Amino acid sequence: TNAPVVTIDGPSGSGKGTVAALLAKELGWHLLDSGALYRLTALAAINHGVDFADEASLEVLAGHLDVQFEPGQDGEGMTIILEGEKVGANLRTEEVGAKASKVATQPKVRAALLMRQRDFAHAPGLVADGRDMGTVVFPAANFKVYLTASAEERAKRRQNQLQLKGIDASFDQLLADIQARDERDMNREVAPLKPADDALQLDSTRLTIQEVFSRILDGMRQKG
Ligand code: C5P
Repeated sequence: TNAPVVTIDGPSGSGKGTVAALLAKELGWHLLDSGALYRLTALAAINHGVDFADEASLEVLAGHLDVQFEPGQDGEGMTIILEGEKVGANLRTEEVGAKASKVATQPKVRAALLMRQRDFAHAPGLVADGRDMGTVVFPAANFKVYLTASAEERAKRRQNQLQLKGIDASFDQLLADIQARDERDMNREVAPLKPADDALQLDSTRLTIQEVFSRILDGMRQKG
């Protein structure tokens, strides 16, 4: 389709998911949280007892993911149904994120999820967030953003998020998890995390979500 696409890529905890959701709401466009597809593939692998090194089985799982996204509540405004069962907060845990980033190193898994991601681009438009939205999945996107923040700041945000849920997590552990995931996402061979050449690069370390949001809107307006 020719629907307009805005991509927001960046490392975990940079705020891209929150900003993507705000932007989709503002524009009245569809939203693709591509990380959820990798997380769901990891969850399906766990449910089916598939080995994370078994690329052929992971490819089949990713290609046949039985998942529905419904407007509702999981904290991010969506209810996700995997193989007939509602997926809970489990999907967002660091443990599942780490498993997702392992699954995501497999080229066949990425290929199996490619078309499914492109299918989200329909009228009136799409806001897509992830690691390779602007570089691989939607290279012709109308507007691209690359959002980062220091690893320390991202660990602090994560710690605050968890505290709100009554969970005490060690800052050092969170920082180590984030650094390990960055390392894997930036150094894998296929579709590594990096800014697209034509992306607006923003560092949110000292910006609020609202500031990031308005800089993106300004950038889009300037581009027309
Ligand atoms: O963004 P989120 O933390 O939900 O993503 C989980 C993992 O999925 C990432 O660490 C990354 O390895 C993988 N991913 C990816 N490409 C995307 C989105 C996510 O490889 N477009």
